[in-house]
Amino acid sequence: MLVLGIESSCDETAAAVVSDGKLLSNIIASQIKDHSAYGGVVPEIASRKHLEAITYVISRALDQAQVTLGDLEGIAVTRGPGLIGSLLVGLSAAKALAYGLNLPFVGVNHLEGHIMASFLSEPRPQFPFAALVVSGGHTNVYRVGNYHDFQLLGQTRDDAAGEAFDKAAKLLDLGYPGGVVIDKLAQKGNPSAYPFPRAMKDSPDFSFSGLKTSLLVMLKKRGKPFGEEELPDVVASYQEAIMDVLVEKTVRAARESGITRIVVCGGVAANSRLRRRFAEAANQAGMALFIPPMILCTDNAAMIAALGEIVLANGRRDSLDLNAVSRWPLAVAPARGEA
Ligand code: KG4
Ligand code: ZN
Repeated sequence: MLVLGIESSCDETAAAVVSDGKLLSNIIASQIKDHSAYGGVVPEIASRKHLEAITYVISRALDQAQVTLGDLEGIAVTRGPGLIGSLLVGLSAAKALAYGLNLPFVGVNHLEGHIMASFLSEPRPQFPFAALVVSGGHTNVYRVGNYHDFQLLGQTRDDAAGEAFDKAAKLLDLGYPGGVVIDKLAQKGNPSAYPFPRAMKDSPDFSFSGLKTSLLVMLKKRGKPFGEEELPDVVASYQEAIMDVLVEKTVRAARESGITRIVVCGGVAANSRLRRRFAEAANQAGMALFIPPMILCTDNAAMIAALGEIVLANGRRDSLDLNAVSRWPLAVAPARGEA
């Protein structure tokens, strides 16, 4: 089934074409430069930039896939979670195309899309697996039993891991988005130079706000910014504190659920240290590890098209009055609240 996917939940306008689980095109227009001066995504700017880019991005995705609008058999779009104004741009474009072309249309979950990105490259994971979705807005571990079968095993109680990267970069004046800058700088540093806290060690849940505060306290005590020689050690140690808990809690959650396969996805899964640490840990634990290629970790529409194709093939059709949703938990933890 030839499906066009559209993604506009945050600061990337993206479109992609998938056919029978194979990626035919993947176009992403990033707004990073439009937001970097503000140290984070400005929702109003994001919506406007999506509007400017959406038509062009869709036509490039069709061109790259060497298909025309007339060839399409379905349209999938991110319905949520995300910035409501941003989501509405992609959703409206998707509805217009579905209406105009008389095609089936589905609005899918962005987090589920991140997980499904792992099905776009070989080897594909088999069910069940433990999935860590680690991005700018989420740090969740799920037991994935099948398509649409998600059980929440752990989640952040405050900041997401990506947020911990972005906020540290802001404190250290390193620019936005923080993850990429810190990833690069940390490669030159010593990850055990500074003792940053690892919070909630015995819990399946995560907490990163104390880590960010400890960096802030460190900076205040110093009274001046870190010098060029110290900075790589600071960010390497800070990053390692994030990695330690991500790796430990995900592997533990998998083991306790009797699962031997781990999927790691979302923007932070593009991190080079994360990829190495998870490879080592999975190897040691005798588990199989699946991390999508970096371009499919950060926001993209390939994952939305891939998920959309599965959903459409299962017979689901959404009506054209479908609305966007800013919050949309994939699963609810029985005793610990919402995802
Ligand atoms: O999945 P994503 O593109 O958007 C959301 O759904 O949030 O994730 C964006 C997050 C940002 O916080 C960004 O700093 C982080 O992913 N990120 C990284 C890296 N690349 C992106 N974090 C660590 N290392 C990276 N290489
Ligand atoms: Zn995302």
